[in-house]
Amino acid sequence: MLACKFELGSLAHAIYTRKSVRAFTDQPVPREILKALVESACRAPSGTNTQPWRVYVLEGEVKDKLVDQVCKTHDAIAKNPELAKDYTDSYDYYPQKWISPYIDRRRQNGWSLYGLLGIDKSERDKIHAQQQRNFRFFDAPVGLMFTINTSLGRGSLLDYGMFLQTLMLAARGFGLATCPQAAWLAYSKIVLSHINAPSDETLVCSMCLGYEDTKSLVNTFETPRECVDSVLTWV
Ligand SMILES: Cc1cc2nc3c(=O)[nH]c(=O)nc-3n(C[C@H](O)[C@H](O)[C@H](O)COP(=O)(O)O)c2cc1C
Repeated sequence: MLACKFELGSLAHAIYTRKSVRAFTDQPVPREILKALVESACRAPSGTNTQPWRVYVLEGEVKDKLVDQVCKTHDAIAKNPELAKDYTDSYDYYPQKWISPYIDRRRQNGWSLYGLLGIDKSERDKIHAQQQRNFRFFDAPVGLMFTINTSLGRGSLLDYGMFLQTLMLAARGFGLATCPQAAWLAYSKIVLSHINAPSDETLVCSMCLGYEDTKSLVNTFETPRECVDSVLTWV
């Protein structure tokens, strides 16, 4: 196991400093660290130890080719939204119909981020460009794609969440930053073909990985949480 920056006792540090980072430096991530992160994540629990995770690492030219293809498709769909259905076969990460309070939090999150960046609701081109930053992995040197076997049940997605959070916390131990991404699900067909995933695998989500650009305005974005008493019921 490679040496982490933090002692195990500072797990709380990792939990409280993890945030979604949306601007990265170009400093490369050594492969041995990448491997150690995935190794840590594999320690996550899963029902009957099924371990449903599969990780694809994209760097350099392979990453750039996917970025190029998806950004072009994203531009084409902005001009003709009818095309969108041709590029995804993903599971329903988000609900078909949003209800309160979830839709309110979603809106608050989106508009606070755009507000910070000085983007108004009416500025469609700027919104499109910011959304497209997702498909550039926010300039992170590493893009991760996570897949799952389509035969597995919904419970495996619960296991997968634990895997992903373990990976993100372990990344903090190496001074690395992450941004989990559902955005790529809209282009899952392109992604699965690009990574040569077997036909019985589907995309769960993606993740940017690298070193935070601490000078970037977007990374000053802070997200609130409901107070613990609104989450907690003492029965
Ligand atoms: C599975 C998952 C998918 C997400 N997808 C995106 C995404 O596509 N683009 C993005 O900018 N942020 C994405 N996020 C980040 C969330 O917006 C973020 O976690 C939330 O606002 C809380 O902020 P924090 O991560 O900084 O604590 C995603 C988070 C998760 C867990």
